[in-house]
Amino acid sequence: MPDDTPRPNSPEARDAASVIHPLTNLKTHLEKGPVVIDSGKGVWVKDIHGKDYIEGMAGLWCISLGYGQDRLVQAAADQMAKLPYYHLTNHKSHSPVIELAERLLEIAPVPMSKIWFANSGSEGNDSAARIVWYYWAAVGKPEKRKIIAHQRAYHGNTIASASLSGMHYNHASFGLPLDGFLHVTPPHHYRNARDGESEEDFATRLADELDALIEAEGPDTVGAFFTEPIMGSGGVIVPPPTYYEKVQAVLRKHDVLLVSDEVITAFGRTGNMFGSTTMGLEPDMLVCAKGLSSAYIPISAVMVNARVFDAIAAESDRIGVFGLSFTYSGHPVSAAVAREALRIYKEEDIVGHVRAMEPHFQGGLRKLLDHPLVGEVRGKGLVAGVELVRDKDTHQAFDPALGVGPFCNERAEDHGLIVRAIGDTISFCPPLIINQVEIKEMIARFQKALDDTLEMVRGLDQNAV
Ligand SMILES: Cc1ncc(COP(=O)(O)O)c(C=O)c1O
Repeated sequence: MPDDTPRPNSPEARDAASVIHPLTNLKTHLEKGPVVIDSGKGVWVKDIHGKDYIEGMAGLWCISLGYGQDRLVQAAADQMAKLPYYHLTNHKSHSPVIELAERLLEIAPVPMSKIWFANSGSEGNDSAARIVWYYWAAVGKPEKRKIIAHQRAYHGNTIASASLSGMHYNHASFGLPLDGFLHVTPPHHYRNARDGESEEDFATRLADELDALIEAEGPDTVGAFFTEPIMGSGGVIVPPPTYYEKVQAVLRKHDVLLVSDEVITAFGRTGNMFGSTTMGLEPDMLVCAKGLSSAYIPISAVMVNARVFDAIAAESDRIGVFGLSFTYSGHPVSAAVAREALRIYKEEDIVGHVRAMEPHFQGGLRKLLDHPLVGEVRGKGLVAGVELVRDKDTHQAFDPALGVGPFCNERAEDHGLIVRAIGDTISFCPPLIINQVEIKEMIARFQKALDDTLEMVRGLDQNAV
């Protein structure tokens, strides 16, 4: 293995000496340092040593329109020059946020009434949780506060959104989740179905589990269910057909609000403008971020339907103000960039492009099912997960201590491809502008990483795979 200890005074060493990194082993980072990315164009990024990578993850599932989108740069520069800041409190506003809200309401997957703006997916979900509580207080049921989400869901990292998340690493040693955040089995048939259980039966069992949980907790205490239409950071989990139909019937039965977390899935990612459309969800609130500005600038939006808005408006009237506020809510530069991004999605028919690329991307990855390590390939549109397993027949996973997924991730980087290992699932979420040639190249590079990983695994144990 090459020695990857940073040279003294190199940018890598200076980073290790000064920066705390998210979702990183902080101890390992002190010795290993980062890959320092310097520039990007289209689906490509270059590090400070001039090495090119295909950005197979659109950064963190976000830079949907790719690098070097001059229109977004110009929109930011123009707005900076004209009005770099104004806020929305106390009846103030500005054109970019008005136009952005109008456009979001036009394209919403189900009728929505108003838009609340925040700065990140986490803040969006945090706001949505707060709105859930406020809503139920407004309609005279303040005890309907519990919120249910999935194990392995990722909804962000503020205290409330980390509590919503179902990831061990978001909770461990942070004393989370807060009381009143509950988690149900993720709708992952490959991992969570019982022997011989059909997708249909699995979906029914999980909906029954949700129903039983709400009954046990008391329907008068459960306020909302949060879900990602397709779960991203949990390993790209696509719920089976009928799952959401059955879940939504349970939610209606107990009068529980549905919040669709579309931080990854909005704006074309799954082959429709919204993942809720792809997966048949009819949410009361919808949270989006990331692709909203193609990640060029932080912004998130929470869509709320008329049922929710009318109640919270009445409650704010009773109290005097709506007490949720961020200095940068609806920041004009962020709003101007997001408004321009939405124009680009429309003018360049990004949804049509995703649908045209989907067979090459999903089909190309599914060909890897022939590889001895690949147990499942799942995804829709331009998001996918490739799960590496020890035994393809029994779905037996590798011992996590072997670090098979992380090894594959590193080898992909060596071959000039950035992907993300979620345990032993390698996830892909390339910029939506990726073309057929780039998809082919991305998968070819991944295949090399897979072969290296197979060699590593066989080196550990001849009977391994
Ligand atoms: C589905 C989902 N929700 C929320 C978040 C949190 O967004 P942010 O990192 O912008 O706070 C993420 C981030 O990856 C996400 O994937």
